[in-house]
Amino acid sequence: MKPPSPHPEAKDLAAGERPRPPGVPAERTAAAQFDFGKNWQLFSEHALTPEKVRQARRDFARLLQGIDLKGKSFLDIGFGQGLSLLIATAMDARTVGCDINPTCGEVLEANKRLFFPEVAAAPVPVIIGSILADAVLADLRRASPEGTGLYDLVHSWGVLHHTGNMELALKNAASLVKPGGYLILALYNRHWTSPLWLGIKYLYHKSPPLLRQGMIHLFYPLIYLAKLVITGENPRKQTRGMDFYYNVVDWVGGYPYEYAPREEIIARLQPLGLEIQRFIPAQVPTGCNEFIFRKD
Ligand SMILES: C[S@@+](CC[C@H](N)C(=O)[O-])C[C@H]1O[C@@H](n2cnc3c(N)ncnc32)[C@H](O)[C@@H]1O
Repeated sequence: MKPPSPHPEAKDLAAGERPRPPGVPAERTAAAQFDFGKNWQLFSEHALTPEKVRQARRDFARLLQGIDLKGKSFLDIGFGQGLSLLIATAMDARTVGCDINPTCGEVLEANKRLFFPEVAAAPVPVIIGSILADAVLADLRRASPEGTGLYDLVHSWGVLHHTGNMELALKNAASLVKPGGYLILALYNRHWTSPLWLGIKYLYHKSPPLLRQGMIHLFYPLIYLAKLVITGENPRKQTRGMDFYYNVVDWVGGYPYEYAPREEIIARLQPLGLEIQRFIPAQVPTGCNEFIFRKD
């Protein structure tokens, strides 16, 4: 079993982290991190379809279950390819996005133009920088639609475990939620194989482009088989509008990488005034657990 025919830009993707542009402060860039933006760009150009966008809309509504977004302020931390941010905008939320990788800003605009004609004229303010940085946190407070510095919903799907400091990222994300508001998170679960994956991701991070390509070719069939055995379903069948190949690249390359079991995340957020409302366990043991917290 082989990954789908590699497209010409795949070797750029394997090149990994981006250099820091001159004059840009470190906290504003994704230097020394897997280049998620490039992976999202290739995903959007080669794999995203109207059917996948429809699936993403359905799954986002399922995640929100019962939370009305109309007129609510909504912050998406690490918006990536921008699907959740655009869907929330289409659901009449007043949205703001944040991502450390500037390519994600370009991908968001392209996906908005191609797949979300109903919000083509709606501004979606975006702040490029790290959720770990005080200056970015201050920008996000200034950008809050009601001018309170807080948001009705803070959403961050599959992000805070990639920041290099999940504890601080959780604290900063939690600090942006209004009393009575929601914090919606997806975070990697802890499994006995997690330290092994940390080693694999570190190796990818330190490897030259050719070796990175080789690792994707090696892990694609292994992950395919593991998922097939664990779920009993076709691994190419994805949720949230995602694509198996680009998810494998994201999974093998996604570094920094942290993970935590359900109880640990709940225990970390409780002292910050966040109570768990709903929990959706990961589909596979190393996958993302989904949490919906409400602030006192
Ligand atoms: C796995 S992607 C998830 C994208 C999207 N949230 C989704 O649901 O598909 C992780 C995203 O987090 C962003 N990211 C990583 N570290 C970040 C940080 N410190 N601050 C803000 N965004 C960050 C990456 O650039 C990337 O777009």
